Amino acid sequence: MGKLNSWINERMSVNRVVEDHLTKYYAPKNFNFFYFFGSLAMLVLVNQIVTGIWLTMSYEPSAAGAFASIEYIMRDVEYGWLLRYMHSTGASAFFAVIYLHMLRGIMYGSYQKPRELIWLFGMTIYLVLMGEAFMGYLLPWGQMSYWGAQVIISLFGAIPFIGPDLAQWVRGDYLISGITLNRFFALHVIALPIVLLGLVVLHIIALHEVGSNNPDGIDIKKHKDENGKPLDGIAFHPYYTVKDIVGVVVFLFVFCVVVFFFPEMGGFFLEHPNFEVANQLKTPDHIAPVWYFTPFYAILRAVPAIGGSAFPGVLAMGAAIAVLFVLPWLDRSPVRSIRYKGWMSKVALVVFCISFVILGILGAIPGTDFRTLLSQICTVLYFAFFLLMPFYTRMEKTKPVPERVTG
Ligand code: HEM
Repeated sequence: MGKLNSWINERMSVNRVVEDHLTKYYAPKNFNFFYFFGSLAMLVLVNQIVTGIWLTMSYEPSAAGAFASIEYIMRDVEYGWLLRYMHSTGASAFFAVIYLHMLRGIMYGSYQKPRELIWLFGMTIYLVLMGEAFMGYLLPWGQMSYWGAQVIISLFGAIPFIGPDLAQWVRGDYLISGITLNRFFALHVIALPIVLLGLVVLHIIALHEVGSNNPDGIDIKKHKDENGKPLDGIAFHPYYTVKDIVGVVVFLFVFCVVVFFFPEMGGFFLEHPNFEVANQLKTPDHIAPVWYFTPFYAILRAVPAIGGSAFPGVLAMGAAIAVLFVLPWLDRSPVRSIRYKGWMSKVALVVFCISFVILGILGAIPGTDFRTLLSQICTVLYFAFFLLMPFYTRMEKTKPVPERVTG
């Protein structure tokens, strides 16, 4: 083994890569619960790719055969039900993990200088992930697959001038058909996963260039020992590889409970109308996207149409995602972590999180006058968090940041 090791390392320095990214990569010693979600996101990504490959072996990407092939996977393919439930639960788990991962970034100011690029890669991942989930949802060719895609693609049609042509270009047909299914299949199983993997690599390269932030938002590189090792840093391997196992075990426990006992999650992970084959002549009573899209769907519905055009709503929904990209430049606070920010930032973050959850609930249920009003209030609060940030982060009094991490 020793000889093989040196033979390889003389030709390609695997040892150096292991040192740079694991055994001599020093991460702050005060990581908490919220720092599990990066590695969990990687785990879920691997789960999606592996179960996806096996699903593809029995899935038939055609309007005539897709729905029946899912039934075949569920009933006849050995462990097909397990593959499918791991994949569908994995999609929801991915977003749950990513939302907590993003919340962590927002809480501890991890997007601030010098980590803007990590955030931008992260946001691009999020956008691609949304596309990936949306396209994957058409593949079972159930009622919600069909009508959900119908709603979202027709939104493109609301864009002035180019809209109708754009919607037709996306569909590849005058209405959603087998052609749309085929292109979504190609994008879902190969194109977007490649882009996602590439972006994750860039995300990690950018992270390892500047090093991880931490719950105190302190720069651990300021205090180093005589060997150049940060005093508040510990080697990623073995310390965090072992610690992450704890997160993985807890995650897998919850994941397995869902997969084996509640795979539909009361219609939130697998919507009930999707157990019926797509029918162009029958619209479901209530079309709602899967839970992870509902906050943005609620924003779309909160903004009134002008002259019968849904464009203002589409614009608001796009802006709700776009504004996250520029977050690093909206935060003008001299400190990173919410621990040392002033009361205004704390109140703003709590109000933002509550509004986001309320929007998520409102987007999943049919609208009434009161609910529309509530979603309008929450939409205003959502945007206020970002647009007022340059002001409240500069005005408020911050607490002094300690020199060394507090544990
Ligand atoms: C496939 C999706 C993703 C994967 C696999 C992933 C992976 C990781 C990993 C392994 C880390 C280091 C460990 C940790 O800090 O938890 C990390 C850090 C980070 N990620 Fe992600 N990430 C993903 C998506 C995102 C998204 C969507 C965002 C935000 C929009 C984001 C923003 C960040 C930031 C700001 C950091 C640095 C955190 C810090 O140092 O405090 N990531 N990511």
